[in-house]
Amino acid sequence: MTTGRVFRRSAAAEPPTAVEADGSTIRDSEGRGYLDAAGGAIVVNVGHGRRSIADVMADQAGRLAYAHGSAFTSEPLEAYAREVGPYLPVVGPAIYPVSGGSEAIETALKLTRAYHLARGDADRQIVFARWGSYHGNTLGALDLSGRKSLRRPYEGWLGRFRHVSAAYPYRADDPGANAMGDTDALVAELDRAFIAAGPRTVAAFVAEPIVGAALAAAVPPDDYWPAIAEVCRRHGALFIADEVMTGFGRTGRWFALDHWGVKADLLVAAKGASSGYWPFGFVAASDEIHETVTRGGAPFIHGFTYSHSPVGAAVAREVLRILKAESLVEASATKGDRLKGLVTTALADDPAVGEIRGRGLLVGIELVADRETRAPFPRTARVTEAVVRSACERGLLVYSGTGNANGVDGDTILLGPPFVVTDVELDQIAATLAESIGAGTAAAMT
Ligand SMILES: Cc1ncc(COP(=O)(O)O)c(C=O)c1O
Repeated sequence: MTTGRVFRRSAAAEPPTAVEADGSTIRDSEGRGYLDAAGGAIVVNVGHGRRSIADVMADQAGRLAYAHGSAFTSEPLEAYAREVGPYLPVVGPAIYPVSGGSEAIETALKLTRAYHLARGDADRQIVFARWGSYHGNTLGALDLSGRKSLRRPYEGWLGRFRHVSAAYPYRADDPGANAMGDTDALVAELDRAFIAAGPRTVAAFVAEPIVGAALAAAVPPDDYWPAIAEVCRRHGALFIADEVMTGFGRTGRWFALDHWGVKADLLVAAKGASSGYWPFGFVAASDEIHETVTRGGAPFIHGFTYSHSPVGAAVAREVLRILKAESLVEASATKGDRLKGLVTTALADDPAVGEIRGRGLLVGIELVADRETRAPFPRTARVTEAVVRSACERGLLVYSGTGNANGVDGDTILLGPPFVVTDVELDQIAATLAESIGAGTAAAMT
């Protein structure tokens, strides 16, 4: 028995010790460098080792590290809300800052309830999400999530929310995938689900505009989001966009909804908002929701010890400044096209590569046992794990997912490097990934 130790998150009993990072590279205590092609968990949009963010953080912490959000506001928070507002695909946004994506999702759910109650619509309790989605690991967020492998151990505690099909053209109509690829069918399904729930009973529909880790950057057909947003509006249900992974330039636009010119009633952001420099996320509520909920000056009954953090706001403000000053959202679009092209060329002859997809610097690779039939590898082969291990041995960090094909089988690799990634590094990512997929699939199948 030890006197104290870390309850590790990593599968390895003794993971390397990270000591410093710069640009797209993390270095460990042995001096080994890792090319971070995933920005951690698709987080570090502005790149590692930004001195200006560390300076802003230290300065704000030195002046005012903490003041409770129920009693005070702060200058960085007020400034951040003003400055980020114009970039959000929400009408007249008011932001409620928290410590991360899961907290922000929980906040969006409770805000939805508060909104309907304030309108006298108390029967609106039902929330829909989609299969093949991830919204976080707290119980409410996990219950929204349609990633079956994560739900399975906790199934007895879940079941409040309902799920409709994923917009996942590659596996449309595959048994067990709970996916469709045709907009008319997807829209009709949601409409039918709302009607079956009963008039004025649906509170909200929650979804990732481009799916993150659960389906490795699955992009819906172009007419999907405008039509889905219209179904929500028609039924008086709020449309909650989970842009935790896709926000702040990841898909080559400020927010993924911008690809389709669609606005959300509530938008959830985290990850890229602070680029990992501070635990930070927020819900942006439309002017109408904010006014309805706070009518009469009543506060929204909710909150966390670390919500409305002045340091978090100062960090997010500096991240926003960097994104604008260095045109990094545009960089994500152009470098993303380049990365997708390089990966497509490098993997052209690999029989295990079923599809390469995504937008901007969010690129997904779906691995299959058979390209023709799209049959997945069996989960017991642990192909994803072998590829991730092979990549890591070659000094390349990638993000991964499993279970996309039918809730158990399915292997995906997700790339999401910092937007400062260089052309040389993009070449390196594509070449090393191709080697790692070759080695990983071979090792897993022997
Ligand atoms: C789309 C999406 N929503 C929510 C979350 C949860 O965010 P967090 O891990 O910060 O709680 C994640 C995290 O990966 C995510 O990708």
